[in-house]
This record gives sequence, structure tokens and C-alpha cells, in this order.
Amino acid sequence: MVKLIGYKKIRTAVFISGTGSNLKSLIKFSKTKKSPISINLIISNNAKAKGLKLGKINKIIKKVFIFKKKNKIENQILSVLKEHEIKMICLAGFMKILSENFIRKFKGKILNIHPSLLPKYKGLNTHQRALNNKEKYSGCTVHFVNSKLDSGKIILQKKVKISKNETKDSLAKKVLNQEHKLYPKAILKMFNL
Ligand code: GRF
Repeated sequence: MVKLIGYKKIRTAVFISGTGSNLKSLIKFSKTKKSPISINLIISNNAKAKGLKLGKINKIIKKVFIFKKKNKIENQILSVLKEHEIKMICLAGFMKILSENFIRKFKGKILNIHPSLLPKYKGLNTHQRALNNKEKYSGCTVHFVNSKLDSGKIILQKKVKISKNETKDSLAKKVLNQEHKLYPKAILKMFNL
């Protein structure tokens, strides 16, 4: 369990690849008094990620890293994280898989949000797969990141009911709404707050 030291907020980086709606909710949360984290850096593997705009609006430094040679890029990211004294990482719709070496450097300090009730439906296309299997419920999970995809220790989950005429898109929307509430809650739980 991570312990809060003094009153300073934990300097956090959020990794994104696309829209950044979870980033938006994390930024909003980070500005509240009760938040143990501050968002000090946004990292994207995609220069066109919509979420990057949130950097400008909120005056948060943003960096884009195009993943060609993974090891090389990860080392560059690690030095940027060091430069900005980042102590925690929140993956929020980040579509790249981080190496074991990278994860080891931030052991127990990388969180991810996943749009399913893990351990069910790891990986991509979670909503369609849940519908194909005629699940009654789906949801989202915030978990620690370890070297196996979507397999780290679960911090918090939220269940949503799948309705009769549910489509992949309607389910995605429903789950995403819950994700925005779940990520901040999971962070509070992680710090025993
Ligand atoms: C979310 O559903 C998240 O769980 C998944 O990718 C989506 C990202 O959405 N990993 P956004 O970029 O935060 O809007």
C-alpha cells in the first residue's frame, strides 16, 4: 500500500492514446482538496490524440512519444518522468503495452482502467465480447499494472447492467460514464482515503 507523505500531492503522469475523457475526470479530481495526486504530465503515443488538448487548457505539460523502438522510447519516457519528478502513473486509454522493465521501475505505482469486469474480457473489444456471450452485467475495473496484460491486483470495480437492446456503443457509453467516477474513487482507496 502506498502511503501519503506530508501534505504534498503525489506528482502523477497520465498516459493516453485517444479521447482522454478519463484524463479529463482525473484532472478535475486532482484539483479537489481531497485528491492525493496532482497531474503534472500527459504522455501520449499518438500525436492526434484529442486528449492532448486538455494539456493546453489545464496548463499541464504534454509529450508525444511515437513507439517505434519500444526500449528506446520507454527509456526516453523514463527520463522525462524523472525530470518531472513523477511518482505515479495512471494509464487512461493508453493503447501500448509497457515492458516488464518499465513496469519494474514504477512497481506498484502504475494504475490502469479497463472497460470490463476483470478477470473477464482482458484485452480489446470488451463490450462486443460481453454482448456476444449474453452477459447480464458488464462494468469497469481499476487495477495495478503488472507484466501480464490486464491482470494486476484489482483496486475497485463498478458493475453496470446490460439492458435488452444494448449495443456495443450504448454499453461503451454507459461503462465510460462509470469509469469517470471509478478512477478517482480507486485512487482514494489506494491511499486509504
Ligand atoms: C476507456 O474505456 C478505457 O477503459 C479504455 O479506453 C477508453 C479510453 O477512453 N482503456 P478515454 O480516452 O479516457 O475517453
